[in-house]
Amino acid sequence: MEIRFQAGGPSRWKADVVLSFVFEGEHGEHACPELEERAPWLGIAPAWRDFRGRKGELVMFYGPEAMEVSRVLGVGLGKADKADMTSFRHAVGSALRRCREYDLETVGLDGASLARVAARLGVDFAVLVREAVISALLGLYRYERWLSEKSAHADPRWLALLLEGEFVENDVRSAARMAEAEAAGLMLARDAANDPANVMTPSAFAEKAREVAARHGMAFRVLGPEELAAEGMQAYLAVARGSAEEPRMAVVEYTPKGAEGRAPVILVGKGLCFDSGGISLKPAKGMGDMKGDMSGAAAVLGVMEALGQLDASSAPARPVVGIMACAENMPGGHATRPGDIVTAKNGKSIEIVNTDAEGRLVLADALAWAQEQYQPFRLLDIATLTGACAVALGLGAAGVFSEDDALAEELCHAGTTLGERNWRLPLWNATSLEALKSPCADMVNSGPREGGAIHAAVFLRQFIREGVTWAHIDMAAADMGESPINAKGATGFGVRTLLCAALSDGHMLQ
Ligand code: BES
Ligand code: MN
Ligand code: ZN
Repeated sequence: MEIRFQAGGPSRWKADVVLSFVFEGEHGEHACPELEERAPWLGIAPAWRDFRGRKGELVMFYGPEAMEVSRVLGVGLGKADKADMTSFRHAVGSALRRCREYDLETVGLDGASLARVAARLGVDFAVLVREAVISALLGLYRYERWLSEKSAHADPRWLALLLEGEFVENDVRSAARMAEAEAAGLMLARDAANDPANVMTPSAFAEKAREVAARHGMAFRVLGPEELAAEGMQAYLAVARGSAEEPRMAVVEYTPKGAEGRAPVILVGKGLCFDSGGISLKPAKGMGDMKGDMSGAAAVLGVMEALGQLDASSAPARPVVGIMACAENMPGGHATRPGDIVTAKNGKSIEIVNTDAEGRLVLADALAWAQEQYQPFRLLDIATLTGACAVALGLGAAGVFSEDDALAEELCHAGTTLGERNWRLPLWNATSLEALKSPCADMVNSGPREGGAIHAAVFLRQFIREGVTWAHIDMAAADMGESPINAKGATGFGVRTLLCAALSDGHMLQ
């Protein structure tokens, strides 16, 4: 669906349907005067007067066919003091789904009603435009690749922002563009994570990364088993050993004009295309969800795609490097056994007591590699790392670990404004290191259940050099979901937070 603008006021507006947002209790006889200017029939329609604007209420109003605006979709937002950005996003997603169900080809968003909502929610108009556009696009996302009977309804051709002013303000235009780029990145991440593991193998993921890089003129490298071995990445290789699928570490480097030579932002994603648990095999129930254990890598690739789609004027001030550490954790004949000891790239030895704690092994080497190759401005990793994080925070939220207060706060703050719930958890180094003690190696890869997300984060911390600004995001509880802006399945979580972190250059943007 294309995003357009119609400036010049109501007399210029034209679409198959116009969406108008209404708070409960604020819907008087002339709730949307600008719209009644263009759709005069609305003012005398009894049904419009009956519309309450309750949360989740969606009512289509019809005027004479010949009018420029003959349909208005009333979108209820509920009580203004209870409404928030999340309920607004869901309302937009549901509304676009309704438009598609009715086969409406062109959709307008009543800008005046958006301005009223922005004022009520206490955000800039441009911020609300960004959220409206991304929610519209995400609401329409669907994963139908394998259905022999695809949906009969096509997406609307375009969505236009109907503006009251003569011109499209620059900040509004770039907010819409940003939303389009973010949505594209998010949908790419969702597709990759929804694809089953027999299709989205480590090699296939690396090819997808190569395509993203090629499409946007970014540099690309990939490390296979030989290269990983040559780099001394034995912890990473230990994970891949039990699978017939070879591991691939894909690296996409984006250097915007003027950013050459500056310290890069580095994003590292866990890319377990399938996590059976290995010899420490997982129980059958829910194991299929582990096709999504590459959601961290998918988020990183989504960020690179979004960066590639942004205009030069919105480009980051620093290079951004996306490292996607892909492998498959399987219990084959060559698989790592519990009790095996390997030496990671940074020289630390690890007793692998549980082959299901594989993400940290892959990330340990990927993080060490990243710090050898680059001098990061900031190093962020994102991973579906521990079920314990889901136990701690509940579904839909991610744990943020960092010794840098400003970075942790920035990530949590960005997440809050962008609809990704990030919550800081502690790095209790001393207790976790005690819990990860091995009698025969520098550490074990898996500690007690209690505080498992923290132990995993402290494990990763052992691979971070002094002075490097690092944060770890555990998104194990946020990789799957369902909502009006999320067709059941992969969420694309992390793309928005990480994109913000890549663009911010250390300053709070939102
Ligand atoms: N990929 C899993 C974590 C996970 C669980 C992600 C549920 C998404 C949903 C990870 O590799 C894993 O198996 N972690 C173990 C660690 C344990 C063995 C220390 C876990 O959480 O049980
Ligand atoms: Mn595992
Ligand atoms: Zn895993």
